[in-house]
This record gives sequence, structure tokens and C-alpha cells, in this order.
Amino acid sequence: MQITINNHQYEANQGDRLLDVARVNHEHIGYFCGGNSICQTCYVKVLEGSELLSALSEEEKAILSENLIKAGTRMACLTTVEKPGTIRVVSAVEEVRNLLETNPVGLGGYAAVMGWEALVKVPDTLRLQAGREFDLWQLLTDVIGGIGDAWKLVFSAFCGCSSCEEKNAATVC
Ligand code: FES
Repeated sequence: MQITINNHQYEANQGDRLLDVARVNHEHIGYFCGGNSICQTCYVKVLEGSELLSALSEEEKAILSENLIKAGTRMACLTTVEKPGTIRVVSAVEEVRNLLETNPVGLGGYAAVMGWEALVKVPDTLRLQAGREFDLWQLLTDVIGGIGDAWKLVFSAFCGCSSCEEKNAATVC
């Protein structure tokens, strides 16, 4: 099945996490925690096909504010592709990049809204994270991998050279 992330179309299989489809295709998406539902940088807005995705999980309900949920926000590390059809999402990282390019003044407002929506969910988020058990070694490995990939994406996002624009390139400069 096909999924469009940040206006680029990719193949996905049933059960694939949105995060993994984005990562494997070097698409702009945040995942500092390596996909362990801690960092909250993997937000995506579902523009089309929300009914084709996994149902909102209890973890997402604890972390995402009502306003973000109403706006179609999902956590890419907790959302899987479930049915074939047209799915279109845009990542929060891509939204920031677009704002930076087209309306840098609007970035302040965007950051304020996202900050507020995170703030109202702090108690629920803390309760959720406090009740979880982590494999610390695996978490550390995932975080290091996530940060390394994030830096590559940041460089590729602002570099603008042809090899960075090639989405399926094995490496970015
Ligand atoms: S919360 Fe960190 S990748 Fe989803």
C-alpha cells in the first residue's frame, strides 16, 4: 500500500509504523528517543486516511492534547498503517521547515501553540512515563541512533544540494 509523507509517496505494509516508513525513506520526521514514545518529536498531522490507521492508543491519549487530536495529530512511533487506501501525513518537523522557508515570523506562534498543548498534558504524560519499564541498554542505543539520524536530517533539510534532495539516497552529506 501507498502512503504519502510530506508530499512524497512511499510503499508501506500493513502493520508498519508511520515512523519506520518515514525513517527507512529518509523522510523528515523527529525521533530523538528512537521510537520509544518519550521525546514527542514524531508528531504527524494526518491530512487524509485517518480511518486507515491504527486506533488512537492509550499512550497517545495520555500524551496528545484534545486540540492536537482534533487537528489530526498522531505520534508516528505509536501509529501503524492498517488498511490500504490513500493516507497523507505531514510531520511536525516538515511543518517547521515549511514555516522557516515561507513565514519565519509564524514560527513563534507555532512554537507557542505546540508548547502550550504539551504543557496541558504534562501531568498525564508524567504519569504514563513513570509507569513504564524500559530496557535501558536498548533505549540508549535507540536514542543514540535517533539523534544521529536527526542530525543527518537537519543537515540535509538545510543543505539543499542535489544529493540531499534525493530522498532515497543511502547517505546525506
Ligand atoms: S515520541 Fe520519540 S519517536 Fe515518538
